[in-house]
Amino acid sequence: MTEVVSIKIDGRTVAARTGETVLRAAERAGVTIPTLCDDKRLDPAGACRACLVEVKGQRRLQPSCHWQVQPDMEVSTDATSERVKRHQNVLVSMYMADHRLDDTGLPVETAAEPGNALRDWAKSSESLPLEPVDAPRVARPGDKNPYITFQPDLCVLCARCTRYCDEVEGVNAITLTDRGSATTIGTSGMTGLLDTTCELCGGCIDTCPTGALVETKSLNILPRDVEKVRTTCNYCGVGCQMDLNVKDDKVVRVTSPEPGTTLNDGNLCIKGRFAYDFIHHQDRFTEPMVRGQDGKLHPTTWEHAIQTAAEGLKRIARKHGQDAIGFVSSSRCTGEENYLVQKIARAAFATGNVHQCSAT
Ligand code: SF4
Ligand code: SF4
Ligand code: FES
Repeated sequence: MTEVVSIKIDGRTVAARTGETVLRAAERAGVTIPTLCDDKRLDPAGACRACLVEVKGQRRLQPSCHWQVQPDMEVSTDATSERVKRHQNVLVSMYMADHRLDDTGLPVETAAEPGNALRDWAKSSESLPLEPVDAPRVARPGDKNPYITFQPDLCVLCARCTRYCDEVEGVNAITLTDRGSATTIGTSGMTGLLDTTCELCGGCIDTCPTGALVETKSLNILPRDVEKVRTTCNYCGVGCQMDLNVKDDKVVRVTSPEPGTTLNDGNLCIKGRFAYDFIHHQDRFTEPMVRGQDGKLHPTTWEHAIQTAAEGLKRIARKHGQDAIGFVSSSRCTGEENYLVQKIARAAFATGNVHQCSAT
């Protein structure tokens, strides 16, 4: 049974629940602990060691993302522990030694949301000037998938992408492969994603803390370059929340809101995440059209378009009977709109031939 207990973090009394991790209790209390491999949707892996804290009575520093709260526990973060601070400075320097850096010597800014976590951590640390290390990690050279790019020199091997693919998506398309400094994110036989079980959900992009995995189309667009507009995906009836990333009045990317804040818990499918080109497509209908005697579509008013459709449907019913008419509605309509489609079918045209495409 879960109990509410009291622990101390940096000398402050914090209420926590038994079974929860020190990291979650610290987050609730507004205490910042750096993390790379933590994602609320995944089982803790304790892989990156960024989140180590001092726990009174423990000889070694412990991973706060994994270590569970106990009554009267006393925890020190880098704010009060020299040992933790020293550990963090050394560790972040080691990560930076084989990471792509910018002109100022910091990990480069990337498209990662909400930014490159290693860069943020490095900014708040006193990193040591270590010699760059050669890490011969490779991407998948023959990967022709159109959506996802893997940049091995930005990968910190936190395994969030592979764990997401396994634990959330249940697909296991990607895995940690090779050994030592050559360890990389690969697929079976290092084939492209299209030759695996990958569903191109893009969740691995979403969870990647450094931008090593990014959307190909918007590789160089930084979070600070865009304005976000929260909306509801209109591809199916689930109602996933998504953020349209808008730059110069154009949607340039779709991202998922932070896990735990919306019903889809930070997850999207291939359509919601990547299929947004239609918004600005030149062939998109933006006004009602009616086909003229010349066989071509011409812009018209809504009244004329609706009247033309109604007359055409009535003509078919008169000539061939009600069952010659069928209505197919779209999963991109709202529930209310779909209700109205069946109402028109049944009440106005006396047919039960009505279907909605999300049933397929
Ligand atoms: S896109 Fe989705 S299914 Fe494909 S590798 Fe990434 S997480 Fe796995
Ligand atoms: S690609 Fe990103 S999520 Fe995957 S291991 Fe590398 S840094 Fe972590
Ligand atoms: S966040 Fe705890 S070990 Fe990575």
